[in-house]
Amino acid sequence: MPFQIVHGDITEMKVDAIVNAANSSLLGGGGVDGAIHSAAGIGLYKECLTLGGCETGDAKITLGYNLPCKHVIHTVGPIWQGGNHGEQASLTSCYLRSLQLASEHECESVAFPLISSGVYGYPADQAIQVASRAIIDYLKDHDLTVYLVIYDKHDYQIDRALHQDLLKYIDQNYTTEPLIPYAAPQAAPPVSPAEEEDDRDHWSSVFHIFQRTSSKDRSSELQAKLEQLDEGFADMLFRKIDEKGLTDAQCYKRANVDRKLFSKIRSNRDYKPSKPTAIAFIIALELPLDEAMDMLKKAGYALSHSNKFDVIIEYFISNGVYDVFTINEALFAFDQRLLGG
Ligand code: APR
Repeated sequence: MPFQIVHGDITEMKVDAIVNAANSSLLGGGGVDGAIHSAAGIGLYKECLTLGGCETGDAKITLGYNLPCKHVIHTVGPIWQGGNHGEQASLTSCYLRSLQLASEHECESVAFPLISSGVYGYPADQAIQVASRAIIDYLKDHDLTVYLVIYDKHDYQIDRALHQDLLKYIDQNYTTEPLIPYAAPQAAPPVSPAEEEDDRDHWSSVFHIFQRTSSKDRSSELQAKLEQLDEGFADMLFRKIDEKGLTDAQCYKRANVDRKLFSKIRSNRDYKPSKPTAIAFIIALELPLDEAMDMLKKAGYALSHSNKFDVIIEYFISNGVYDVFTINEALFAFDQRLLGG
């Protein structure tokens, strides 16, 4: 999964590079800066002495010393002054400059703290937005794994209105009553008159295809419909990519799925993705709820109101919000698995 939000201590991240929210001297301080310097040891301080400081929005790289990472990238975030002093641009620059340095040093994995959201006072919900957008934009043209490490869950806030709306939707739809999942293999329930009517409409429309089309067209149009009935998850995924006019890369980048996993699905049509990966593709394809349920069923899953993760996914699809990263920010806030693969 190219971009993940995780809860933890950045000094314990086993990645190629961790990013330090430093001050312009680069000689240590409190917060994450203090934690990184004390975990790395005196060697880090000595190398920082040679760097000659760092401007706000810029970044410099050192070795990781006693830390479980190869490098530390030191960047200096903006001090929050109300939001009208170029803070957003400076904070964005911190992420981009750090990612550029990581790429220049062939790092394949990078972990960020939430820069400027502590001592420097940047509002956490806005800091998360800036971080996510900067990282996602960079990942559109670069293949690496990026972690946003949240040390204190209380620091983590999503948009207040969205949070309230989600809480209301969960309250109205989430039930701990065990519901029969959408695709459970159950005996066909008794067909109500209304359902019988729907069934009749469906088959009469199929019948009309027979009547309306010549035998040549009939076979191709009906053939297409019958093929869709028994196509697998991967087949439906690739059919939808074509129908939407997307490239493979556009689809898996939107889905927060890494290129290697997508190639695996491309080469094995029977591949069974995890539920978060299946849903990530559904979101990337912007499928309406009925098609989403159908595609999910082809992967062997269903959405159920007895699962908070599913209720949150249903909320976003029903509201036409198809941004995997926005959905992941909300899923993280509710301690749920993230979308992608
Ligand atoms: N791992 C991950 N994140 C951490 C850790 C840790 N071990 N410790 C703190 N954080 C988080 C904080 O919870 C906050 O969300 O890092 C984020 C940034 O907070 P600060 O460390 O205060 O950094 P910042 O707001 O950018 O201020 C930088 O503070 O420590 C001094 O020398 C530093 O002067 C500089 C200023």
